[in-house]
Amino acid sequence: MIQMFHVSKIYPKDVVALSDITLHIQKREFVFLSGPSGAGKTTLLRLIFRDELPSSGQILVHGRNVVRLRESKLPALRRGIGVIFQDFKLLMDRTVYANLHLVARVLGIPDTISRRKIGRLLKDVGLIQKADQTPYKLSGGEQQRVAIARALMSDPVILLADEPTGNLDPDLALDVMRLLAEVNIRGTTVVVATHNPRLVSEMGHRTLILKQGRLVEEIA
Ligand SMILES: Nc1ncnc2c1ncn2[C@@H]1O[C@H](COP(=O)(O)OP(=O)(O)OP(=O)(O)O)[C@@H](O)[C@H]1O
Ligand SMILES: [Mg+2]
Repeated sequence: MIQMFHVSKIYPKDVVALSDITLHIQKREFVFLSGPSGAGKTTLLRLIFRDELPSSGQILVHGRNVVRLRESKLPALRRGIGVIFQDFKLLMDRTVYANLHLVARVLGIPDTISRRKIGRLLKDVGLIQKADQTPYKLSGGEQQRVAIARALMSDPVILLADEPTGNLDPDLALDVMRLLAEVNIRGTTVVVATHNPRLVSEMGHRTLILKQGRLVEEIA
């Protein structure tokens, strides 16, 4: 599903963000990416959806080499990958429903279909009663669940989450993690970057640990 072969990423001014990373994430796996601040977690996620290109090495996603992917094939790659970041960037002055509907329009999903789909996703994340609220009035955990629903609009085969619980208190963080675990059980490959060791140990998934850009340990 996701394979990296000797991947390095060096940002300008010789900042080595990733160094000789080789890894394999299986289809339908749930994997944590852990390690201290600056270890390269976000960079690694950005390479997977080709938000960045590696300085060297090869990356296969669904068997396609994303390093050599033509620009014209990028939208198709990105439609298959849902992305959730810590600053979830919801439109705070639009309703929860409108936030999801906007994505549906970008994806070209007709209104008749998107209405049903948004309803189903909001039910899945437990927010159907809040569809007409603005995110402004929701808690941090609820907002993050809207962001998860939004990332699932395109039925992605892969879900990448970067510190999805960074701003949440421990109980809410665990709720969000359980939701991601459910998404995974339904068949989506999930990769979660976090430097929260408690979450990692409580969830018990394979964990790849980065330190200063190197893959130093793997906990099965
Ligand atoms: N766009 C960029 N340009 C230059 N350097 C960058 C860029 N993005 C990241 N870096 C550097 O690359 C290294 C890895 O950063 P990255 O954001 O991947 O770490 P991280 O593990 O996600 O950290 P955190 O836990 O703080 O989010 C850091 O030294 C960072 O300063
Ligand atoms: Mg990061």
